Amino acid sequence: MRLYHLGKLGSLDALKLVDAPDPRPGPGQVVVRIRACSLNHRDLNIISGGYTSVALKPGAIPLSDGAGEVTAVGQGVTRWKAGDRVAPIFVQRWLGGDLLPEYMPSALGGPSDGVLAEQIVLNEEGLVRIPSHLSFEQAATLPCAAVTAWNAALVKGALRPGQTLVALGTGGVSLFAAQFALMTGARVIATTGSAEKVARLHALGVGDVINYQTLPDWDARVRELTGGRGADVVVEVGGPGSVARSIAAIRYCGHISVVGNLAGKATIDPGTLFAKRASMCGIQVGSRDMFEAMNRAIEVGKLEPVIDRVFDFTAARAAYDHLSSGKHFGKVVISVP
Ligand SMILES: NC(=O)c1ccc[n+]([C@@H]2O[C@H](COP(=O)([O-])OP(=O)(O)OC[C@H]3O[C@@H](n4cnc5c(N)ncnc54)[C@H](OP(=O)(O)O)[C@@H]3O)[C@@H](O)[C@H]2O)c1
Repeated sequence: MRLYHLGKLGSLDALKLVDAPDPRPGPGQVVVRIRACSLNHRDLNIISGGYTSVALKPGAIPLSDGAGEVTAVGQGVTRWKAGDRVAPIFVQRWLGGDLLPEYMPSALGGPSDGVLAEQIVLNEEGLVRIPSHLSFEQAATLPCAAVTAWNAALVKGALRPGQTLVALGTGGVSLFAAQFALMTGARVIATTGSAEKVARLHALGVGDVINYQTLPDWDARVRELTGGRGADVVVEVGGPGSVARSIAAIRYCGHISVVGNLAGKATIDPGTLFAKRASMCGIQVGSRDMFEAMNRAIEVGKLEPVIDRVFDFTAARAAYDHLSSGKHFGKVVISVP
C-alpha cells in the first residue's frame, strides 16, 4: 500500500509518498481501507513546524480526518466487521467524560500516526460508524472540524432554538457550526473576509453576514442585528486578536467557545468578561460520545458537509496549498483510490 509520511518539517517538501507493507490487525485492532481524507488548519501548522504542542516522531503519517471501510479485524474485536463504514475519532483514547491530558498523545496526525494512507490500523474503540447518507468524501470531513463545531456550539455552547450563534469565517469548523445551529432552529450571524463568500453563506441559509474586512468592528453590527442584546454563543476561531470583539458581541451571560487562533496575538481584559457575567472555555475537538451524538443528528437532519474541493491522493501537496491559500469555503478533501 501507499502512504504519506512527514520528512523534515518546515515546508510542504516534508510530504513524502512512499510504499509500505499492508498493515495487519493485532488483538483488538481493525484495519481500515481509507477512501477519503480531509485537511484542517492544524495540518498546515503541523507541517510548517509551528505546532509546538505536538512532538512528531520522524516519519509520522499526517492528517487526523478520514473515512473508509473495515477490511480486517483482529482477535477479540466485537464492535466491527469487514465492510463497516467508519471514521476514526480525533483523540483515540477520549471515548467520553472529560478530556484528560494523558489522552492527548493519542491524537491522530500528530503525535500519533494519522490517516493519509491507503490503509490504517487502529484500536476498535477509536472508530465510529459514519452516517448512512454520506459518501466517504463527505464523512471524511467530520472527525475534527464537525466534532469541534458540535462541541463548541451545542455541548459547551448549549445553543437552543431561537438563540443566535456567531460563526467567524468560512473554514471547516465555522461552516459546521453554522449548519448545526441552523439545524437546531437557531439564528446564525456569520462573518467572512471575502465579498465573494457572502453569497455562498446566504445560499447555505445564513441570514446575516458581516464582512470583517470592510467592517472590522463586526461586534457592533452583531449587537445591532440582535436589537442591542448580543449573541448567545460565539464559536471563536479568530483567537486572541478577535476574542475582545467576541466578548463585546455576546449578550449578558452569553458564552464564547474558544477554538482557534487565526487572528494572531492580543491581550484581553477579564473585566470585560466579568462585566457581561459571560462564560468562555477552550475546546479540544470532542469525545467519541460527542461524535456519535453528532452523527445521529446529521443523519436525522440529512446534513450535507460543505466540500470546497476534492484532490487526488497523489496531489496531497496541492490540497495543502489550496487550504493555505484561504480561498476555500468549507472543507478540502483528498480522495483515496
Ligand atoms: N481547538 C480545537 O480542537 C480545534 C479544532 C479544529 C480547528 N481548530 C482551530 O480553529 C481554527 C479554524 O480551523 P479550520 O480548520 O476551520 O480552518 P480553515 O478551514 O482553514 O478556515 C479558516 C477560515 O477562517 C477565516 N479566517 C482567516 N483569518 C481570519 C481572521 N483573522 N478572523 C476571522 N476569520 C478568519 C477565513 O474565512 P473567510 O475567508 O471567510 O474570512 C478562513 O478561510 C484554526 O485556528 C484551527 O487551528 C481548533
